[in-house]
Parts: sequence; C-alpha cells; structure tokens
Amino acid sequence: KTVIGVLASGRGSNLQAIIDAIEAGRLAVTVGVVISDNPEANVLKRLAGSDIPAVCIDRRQFACRQDFEAAVAEELNVRHVELVVLAGFMRILGRYFIDRFAGKIMNIHPSLLPAFPGENAQLQALQYGVKVSGCTVHFVDEGMDTGPIILQEAVPVMEDDTEETLSERILHAEHILYPRALALYCEGRLCMDGRRVYIKKE
Ligand code: GAR
Repeated sequence: KTVIGVLASGRGSNLQAIIDAIEAGRLAVTVGVVISDNPEANVLKRLAGSDIPAVCIDRRQFACRQDFEAAVAEELNVRHVELVVLAGFMRILGRYFIDRFAGKIMNIHPSLLPAFPGENAQLQALQYGVKVSGCTVHFVDEGMDTGPIILQEAVPVMEDDTEETLSERILHAEHILYPRALALYCEGRLCMDGRRVYIKKE
C-alpha cells in the first residue's frame, strides 16, 4: 500500500474523509503520519487515541521557511511517505520542499481552479458572482494553486448563499473528490502529459 503523509493546519475534515474511505475499503493507502504546522489545530485533537502518528512542527520554532520545510521533509522521510497530501495546509511550500517531493504532492482547493486561488476561495467566488463553483484536486508546483489538475467537481452557487453555506456545499464535494483522486494515484492510473493529467481506464 502507498504510504501517504498528510499536512494539515486546521479542522481536518478532509483527513477524516480520507480515514473514512480507508476504513470503508474504498482507498488502499496507509496514513504514515499527519503533520500540523499549528499546535492548536483541531486535526491533532481528532487523532488523539487513534493509531495514526500525529506530529506538530511549529513554523514559529524555525528561523526561516527552508529550515521548517527541512524538518517536515525529514519527518516524512522517516515515516517512508511516498505521497504528500495537503489537506487544509495553509502555507505555500518553497522550491526546496517541492523539489524533494517532485510530482508527489497533492492539494485540494475549494474552487474550480484557475478561478479564485489563494485564501478565502469561497468568499471570492460569492463576491465575484459566479453561478457555479466547486473544488479541485491538483498536483502542487511552486505557484499558488497552479499545479496540474487531477479532478474537479462543480457545485452550484445559490442566490441566498453565505460564505458558510457555500463552503459547506463545496466541502461535501471535497470529501468525495479527495479520496477518489488518491485512489487513482495509488492505482497508478494518473498519467501526465505536460500540464494535462489523464486518467487511465481500469
Ligand atoms: C478545505 O475547504 C480546503 O479545500 C481548504 O481548506 C479547507 C480545510 O478544511 N484549503 C484551502 O483553502 C487551501 N488553499 P479541513 O481542515 O476541514 O479539511
């Protein structure tokens, strides 16, 4: 089984969806470690009492980004992680880290990229006035939410939506999409041609 390492900064609902998919037999991966950059993160509390190793690597303890990323990379290597899964990880990774895990980092973003990259994607979508938004799973490159797109799911924007209601509808789609993308990767079904990712038939 592919060993994944999950990086998360907050609530951890996407991690939970991944764990649920593993337990339901829909996803054949092992979560080797969960790393949070934030000691207060709910994602760490979520793992209390589980057998998944949870580690906090606090960015504030490091003088610079590269030292922080070196510590994260070291932890991932010690746990024999083969695929890095960003799940609500609210930091941009630098060249040093991306090069070390080239083509082996995935992210989920709550918009239909390339629309609304960066923070508060759901609020950006509401303020822009789009009628459809959604979520995107993509490989990570050095840009902000610019890497090759693996899967996307569209979600309607309703006239009475608030940031909360739209975020919740998108999050529901995220919880289905991320385990599916991970399964495709682990089954060796993702092929790259430049920026384009093709899904091999079973
Ligand atoms: C998710 O909506 C995810 O798409 C978003 O943060 C949330 C994390 O929720 N990620 C980004 O905005 C990345 N730029 P979770 O901690 O409950 O999985």
